[in-house]
Amino acid sequence: MLAVEPLAGTGGMISLEQFYRAYTTVSQYEPNSEQQDTIRPASTQPLFIVAGPSTGKTTCLTLRILKLILVDGVPPQSILATTFTKKAAAELRSRILGRGFRILEALEADPTILEDTNGGHLWGTVAGMFRSWRSGRG
Ligand SMILES: Nc1ncnc2c1ncn2[C@@H]1O[C@H](COP(=O)(O)OP(=O)(O)OP(=O)(O)O)[C@@H](O)[C@H]1O
Ligand SMILES: [Mg+2]
Repeated sequence: MLAVEPLAGTGGMISLEQFYRAYTTVSQYEPNSEQQDTIRPASTQPLFIVAGPSTGKTTCLTLRILKLILVDGVPPQSILATTFTKKAAAELRSRILGRGFRILEALEADPTILEDTNGGHLWGTVAGMFRSWRSGRG
């Protein structure tokens, strides 16, 4: 389902805690503990996740991909996600971009979330990558 090449990861842009803090300001719920188990592992950790209908699979994939980019520093262009249908692919793309931009906005709006973060200079790069992806150039 999800292939990740941990090429040239920049690492440590924001911490996982900062990521969740930003996410919960833009979402009505926190990921539950089982979902967090799919989000937390390192980019090099293979995962095989089985879950039924409407249990939060797309939520997990969305948050895992955003965590790889924002927390682990994995370049978005080195992440390949595939689905069985075009509809599911469109839904996943839309959620990654929608959530991703809202997380970026939350981080920009509340600088305290970013306190003690080393990777602030990478911020413009990631925002630019999201924008070029949204416009279909990424
Ligand atoms: N931890 C959570 N707490 C509350 N609601 C959640 C949680 N995780 C996901 N949801 C909500 O549950 C619904 C289903 O989530 P999601 O679309 O991620 O599931 P799915 O397994 O991909 O569904 P489908 O089988 O239809 O593809 C969505 O409305 C989502 O916002
Ligand atoms: Mg789904």
